[in-house]
Amino acid sequence: MEGSTLSAPIHATEYEPEPKKHLQNHMIRMIAACARNRVMGAGGTLPWQIQEDWEYFLESTRGGALLMGRRCYEDFTDYVQDREVVVLSRDPSREFPYAHRAGNLQDGLDLAASLAPDTWICGGEGIYREAMPLAEELYLTQIDQEYEGDVCFPKWEKVFNREISRKEMNSKAPKLTFLVLGK
Ligand SMILES: NC(=O)c1ccc[n+]([C@@H]2O[C@H](COP(=O)([O-])OP(=O)(O)OC[C@H]3O[C@@H](n4cnc5c(N)ncnc54)[C@H](OP(=O)(O)O)[C@@H]3O)[C@@H](O)[C@H]2O)c1
Repeated sequence: MEGSTLSAPIHATEYEPEPKKHLQNHMIRMIAACARNRVMGAGGTLPWQIQEDWEYFLESTRGGALLMGRRCYEDFTDYVQDREVVVLSRDPSREFPYAHRAGNLQDGLDLAASLAPDTWICGGEGIYREAMPLAEELYLTQIDQEYEGDVCFPKWEKVFNREISRKEMNSKAPKLTFLVLGK
């Protein structure tokens, strides 16, 4: 190697990727809203239009990285530009404007951790189920009404069995309960 212009170890240090800086104290949370019958989605979108819950979602996740499935992204495109978003898709040819793609949950989590101090798992159904063991907290809005739909929030009660906080909003129907749950 004498005389070589390739001083590999120095380059290796110089090009250490940035992600590590966020990993300390990095928090993984899940956030979802579901109806009394566990429904959370219908035809690729939310089954309801509840402004208070939508504002709660936007406010809670501000400053964090959002990790979501490809169908969720397609419903969220109007908001992507203001956020760090990682989209899970198994199709490597897919591109997601203003968002990053990852091909599996672990890669998505690693990428999200490199983008923001906290990660918010935003669904859908399979991603919530897969991420449940990994997330520390669940922000769950319970909507006290039944809806028709094709996607349900997976059973969480045995995993997130510690109530951290609860806020109820009774002013308008349906009643909303904003729960923060831990393990
Ligand atoms: N109420 C709520 O809080 C809430 C929250 C989230 C979603 N929703 C609703 O739920 C519905 C969307 O959820 P969904 O379950 O149908 O779909 P989704 O999870 O958003 O998207 C499914 C797609 O994500 C990709 N994907 C999922 N898991 C993956 C993995 N482990 N690795 C790589 N790629 C993965 C695949 O994309 P490819 O096919 O491209 O490979 C899969 O087809 C919508 O109706 C939405 O409004 C509601």
